[in-house]
Amino acid sequence: MSVDIKNPVVNFPFFLFFLLFSCVSHFCHAIDTIRQGESIRDGGETLISQGEIFELGFFSPGNSTFRYVGIWYYKTEGSPVVWVANRDAPISDRNGVLRIGENGNLVVLDGNNSIVWTSNASVQSSNTVAILLVTGNLVLSSIGSMGDTTKAYWQSFDHPTDTFLPGMRVLVSTVMGENHAFRSWKSANDPSPGDFSMGIDPFGSPQIVIWNQTRRMWRSGQWTGVVFTGVPNMTSLARYLYGFKISPLNEDGSIYLSYVLSNASCLLRFRIGWDGKEEQLKWEDGLGKNWTVVQSEPSNDCELYNFCGNFGVCDVSKSRKCHCPQGFQPKFPDQWNRGDWSGGCQRRTELQCKRKPSDAGGSGKQDGFKGFKCMKLPDFGKVESPGDSKTCSEKCMANCSCNAYAYITGIGCIIWNGDLIDVQHFDNGGNLMFLRLPQSELGSGKMISNLVIAIIVVAGLCFLCITVWLLWRFKRNMKVKGEVCSSIPTFNESKSKEFSTDLSVSAELVIDGSQVNGPELPLCNFQCVAAATNNFSEEKKLGQGGFGPVYKGELPGGQQIAVKRLEGRSGQGIEEFKNEIILIAKLQHRNLVRLLGCCIQGEERMLIYEYMPNKSLDRFLFDKTKQALLDWGKRFAIIEGIARGLLYLHRDSRLRIIHRDLKASNILLDAEMTPKISDFGMARIFGSNQYEATTVRVVGTYGYMSPEYAMEGLFSIKSDVYSFGVILLEIVSGRKNTSFRSSDHTSLIGYAWDLWNENKPMELIDPAIRNSCNPNEVMKCIHVGMLCVQDSAALRPKMESWRKSPAQSRLTSVAGIFVLFHLLDKVKTSRSQDWLIKEDFIFGQSFQSHYTYDYDLMT
Ligand SMILES: *[C@@H]1O[C@H](CO)[C@@H](O)[C@H](O)[C@H]1NC(C)=O
Ligand SMILES: *[C@@H]1O[C@H](CO)[C@@H](O)[C@H](O)[C@H]1NC(C)=O
Ligand SMILES: *[C@@H]1O[C@H](CO)[C@@H](O)[C@H](O)[C@H]1NC(C)=O
Ligand SMILES: *[C@@H]1O[C@H](CO)[C@@H](O)[C@H](O)[C@H]1NC(C)=O
Ligand SMILES: *[C@@H]1O[C@H](CO)[C@@H](O)[C@H](O)[C@H]1NC(C)=O
Ligand SMILES: *[C@@H]1O[C@H](CO)[C@@H](O)[C@H](O)[C@H]1NC(C)=O
Ligand SMILES: *[C@@H]1O[C@H](CO)[C@@H](O)[C@H](O)[C@H]1NC(C)=O
Ligand SMILES: *[C@@H]1O[C@H](CO)[C@@H](O)[C@H](O)[C@H]1NC(C)=O
Repeated sequence: MSVDIKNPVVNFPFFLFFLLFSCVSHFCHAIDTIRQGESIRDGGETLISQGEIFELGFFSPGNSTFRYVGIWYYKTEGSPVVWVANRDAPISDRNGVLRIGENGNLVVLDGNNSIVWTSNASVQSSNTVAILLVTGNLVLSSIGSMGDTTKAYWQSFDHPTDTFLPGMRVLVSTVMGENHAFRSWKSANDPSPGDFSMGIDPFGSPQIVIWNQTRRMWRSGQWTGVVFTGVPNMTSLARYLYGFKISPLNEDGSIYLSYVLSNASCLLRFRIGWDGKEEQLKWEDGLGKNWTVVQSEPSNDCELYNFCGNFGVCDVSKSRKCHCPQGFQPKFPDQWNRGDWSGGCQRRTELQCKRKPSDAGGSGKQDGFKGFKCMKLPDFGKVESPGDSKTCSEKCMANCSCNAYAYITGIGCIIWNGDLIDVQHFDNGGNLMFLRLPQSELGSGKMISNLVIAIIVVAGLCFLCITVWLLWRFKRNMKVKGEVCSSIPTFNESKSKEFSTDLSVSAELVIDGSQVNGPELPLCNFQCVAAATNNFSEEKKLGQGGFGPVYKGELPGGQQIAVKRLEGRSGQGIEEFKNEIILIAKLQHRNLVRLLGCCIQGEERMLIYEYMPNKSLDRFLFDKTKQALLDWGKRFAIIEGIARGLLYLHRDSRLRIIHRDLKASNILLDAEMTPKISDFGMARIFGSNQYEATTVRVVGTYGYMSPEYAMEGLFSIKSDVYSFGVILLEIVSGRKNTSFRSSDHTSLIGYAWDLWNENKPMELIDPAIRNSCNPNEVMKCIHVGMLCVQDSAALRPKMESWRKSPAQSRLTSVAGIFVLFHLLDKVKTSRSQDWLIKEDFIFGQSFQSHYTYDYDLMT
């Protein structure tokens, strides 16, 4: 098409039309709402959500000629449809219209103007508006609360078709029963409801189920609050860290299952296909530019519901997939041997409790339990009121119809009355289940061989112990004076053989005889971490720590992680690794970096942390180009955050912890610039009444080590306070403590002290923040910093409680001063002249100076 510019008169109407058309089409692409009176016609008119993620309009699926109103991904490969309005009332021609009807509801009209679909909500306003949100939710509400999903009259998220999108909520209610929330299409060309559905079985502990009409086809296993027990891969970090959440109980007894993306810019969807397969798809924005299947269920025969029949156990790694557990035999042996497992298994011997006293052998011993590891727990478990594993076993024993029990962290006691249905044995993952067996089936025949094994094991252990002891004595005699090693934890990866090849969440990490990991610290598998970090590629490397490189990784859900990989097998690194796990797994605080998991496989030792987009404090503080990004307000918040983190370590956590390596590069900053203390490799735990210790191996960083620690190896909470003081002065001055070597002053501390003596402390302040700072606050910070870096540990304040002597208010703690800062904001007007610090502090005993300072916090 060419426009002849030589003849503008002839072409003017065409030009106008062209202008109008491009204007209209431009307008269409800009809107995401329809109001009363507006309409979307078949033939190119669509709504497009903000960010151009979703599009709403008319479409024909596959090679069907019927027209449907639906929502699909706007720009991604294949424009996958996530919702269909008139799924069972197609329009046969291209004259369809979507509009807001006179009663305020959304309606789809065909060419004859008859309604083929309506949102059919009870609408209280005649002036309604529908908006396609960035989440893919079409929301109908009154004009005043446009886009507010809580005040919506109707929303497409409440009437899903075959796709579960992040942000949707699925009702989990024992009153309503099974919720078949998502129903598949009939075929690739026909969106009308098919045979398969996906939803929630709310009974017991909720689980996700896929149904073929009304028959179960797959189930996820019970929800523990963290993972679904029947999805073994969920134990790996990839599935664990992001995603499913179950909301707390509502007043009406209902709860909701939802899926929360850790990175809102990821595109992720769950879909129940017309072939009965559920798929989790993720949009790959990299080179692939396509949807990839992250996970798919059912993925093998064993995943099919009750594949091996009642009491049968399915094991996908075996060539004969089904077997009967100990004490059981096939119900129909011929059928079973032909490979038809549907008959399941039955008990070889009746349970003692079922036998009448008159029966032969009826006077036998009571039934017992045998534990089976790595099991997918059976369906229809009954969750019993709280208790422990022992009361759970007693509860099961008390009722003869109880066949099995399990005690699961996050759920509690589950017992199974009746047949065990849909049981699997996993290679890794899964749970420990106890099966009730009569005494005769509990393996008394194997007792003898077990005894022999036990004796051999004990004898072997004794031999080993003696050898180790002898070696130790030998070594001790060789050394004149060695370091005390008894406090170093022993490391026991896992008790059971099944777990040791590929560790997963249910494996136990035992250090010093106590399990340190649990649902809150998953062990994750190596492949998963390798995949997340692009096989530890160079471009994912964030930096090099003392004990190995640190990589950035991204999980399938988009969550970013930092992976610290231990290099080689240096004994020292291993020690730090253990130390870090023991400590940080037990610590939870806003201002401490969070350990998300760890990985131990073969020679590999890795720690997985939350990723800190802003890296460490020193990258801002000592970089001339970035200094200005940290204005005084931010710096003050960082100081306060570090103080709170340290206060937690020293006082508020269950353990008393000395960090020993506090420095600006160990303070990480998250996206909101919240400081997080990291690197607990050198930290030490103190008993509640232990205040100091000595070490032969002085580790730490020059410039942050207190004199008594650097010289005598003496460390205590006061040595951390010293490091804190240094960081504080660095934050205020924007200069490294060790950057003064060439100048008149030996260090930042000496410089600060001289300025203080010359009565011009304000010169210490970083020029980049001179304008933004509050002089009063900065002064207080310098004061606190100087108190902290006194040579004498005794004179330094503690991070903990602050004292107020009756005669005069006297602050001797850093935390106290910060508490006071906040108090002061509130009581500024109340004129309490008592709030005074009168603090003596001595700095640098080599100077022999003594300085008294009246500090009026009210000014
Ligand atoms: C479309 O129709 C052709 C011929 O009827 C068929 O072979 C093809 O499989 C159909 N495509 C889909 C996606 O169903
Ligand atoms: C419209 O009505 C006519 C006559 O009732 C019918 O033949 C035709 O199929 C209808 N068209 C649509 C799109 O429903
Ligand atoms: C609208 O809802 C009412 C009850 O809520 C129902 O009786 C009616 O059939 C529905 N109408 C349509 C067109 O779905
Ligand atoms: C669904 O159930 C029907 C019988 O009700 C069966 O024929 C069909 O194979 C089942 N589909 C799948 C995918 O299991
Ligand atoms: C679990 O993950 C491993 C690798 O990460 C994969 O080979 C395996 O097929 C997955 N199993 C299931 C049941 O999805
Ligand atoms: C979220 O994901 C996008 C693309 O997948 C990425 O560019 C962005 O950095 C991620 N953001 C965060 C905070 O992880
Ligand atoms: C995207 O994936 C689908 C299915 O896996 C495939 O059919 C299609 O060709 C792929 N498209 C591109 C552009 O790679
Ligand atoms: C044992 O459990 C069954 C099934 O839940 C129940 O019907 C029966 O009352 C219970 N019996 C006893 C003695 O508690």
